[in-house]
Amino acid sequence: MVKHGNEEPARGRKAALKSGRRGKEEPRAGDFSPAAAVRARLPVLRSARAAAAAARLGGGGMAGGGGPAFGPSALGTRPHWDAAYDRELRVFQDTGDAGEIWFGEESMVRIIRWLEKQKVPHDSSVLDIGTGNGVLLIELAKTGYTNLTGIDYSPSAIKLSEKVREKEGMSNIKLQVEDFLAPSAELSGFQICIDKGTFDAISLNPDNAAGKRKQYVRSLRSVLKPEGFFLITSCNWTKEELLDEFREGFEILEELPTPKFCFGGRIGNSVTALVFQRKK
Ligand SMILES: C[S@@+](CC[C@H](N)C(=O)[O-])C[C@H]1O[C@@H](n2cnc3c(N)ncnc32)[C@H](O)[C@@H]1O
Repeated sequence: MVKHGNEEPARGRKAALKSGRRGKEEPRAGDFSPAAAVRARLPVLRSARAAAAAARLGGGGMAGGGGPAFGPSALGTRPHWDAAYDRELRVFQDTGDAGEIWFGEESMVRIIRWLEKQKVPHDSSVLDIGTGNGVLLIELAKTGYTNLTGIDYSPSAIKLSEKVREKEGMSNIKLQVEDFLAPSAELSGFQICIDKGTFDAISLNPDNAAGKRKQYVRSLRSVLKPEGFFLITSCNWTKEELLDEFREGFEILEELPTPKFCFGGRIGNSVTALVFQRKK
């Protein structure tokens, strides 16, 4: 595995608090977000810590059960990610640490295990939407996947992912700066699309998030081949909400198991991981 923050808890913890990243996805008391609480049908925890966690994860306004109503957040903007990956880039240059992985290593293992279980051919074209530091692509390459592309709208993220790719000697991974909400014509015909935290981030955009989510679904339809697979990992949306968001043009294939937490006798998940297939 590529070296990252989870292996260096001191730095990881500090960085996570500063930048809003999540490392390991095992739920802890302070990690309850309103979305997670809704998933577990629990009242939203109102402690200062929980509120901070909710803001960090971008949750908000869902506890009443009236549907998604995330408050806008810096996490939905490009300047936020540019600044975050500028910092990551400096750390990488100083220490060789690629930074934390959203939803932890287990989120990558879960995706790769599913692809392997389905016997998805290793030469299938794979697109990582909002690749960040590109570590998922490195792990896919190490598993044997050979046709890998990562995009991110943050040039700093792509610079970092290029450095990580260089260090790992994986020059065949394609990396490019692209806004997924306005994909270039060359971004098409993918057999697999993966999203880990990017739809979540887009959902927090202060400017017309609902319209941006709809555009995301249109972009996905345009880049993914008919019958291609879309694997999404989200901490802000429940399974039911994601089914609704992606109802046009996609059908659910599978929900991937994620860690469960128990609180007050109720059980819930802190992360949702689904596999969709694009309709013909
Ligand atoms: C929560 S981070 C996840 C990064 C990575 N997928 C991971 O799992 O570690 C969200 C990523 O989405 C990127 N992003 C947000 N909006 C985007 C857009 N419209 N087009 C492309 N990338 C976007 C951000 O720059 C950031 O790298």
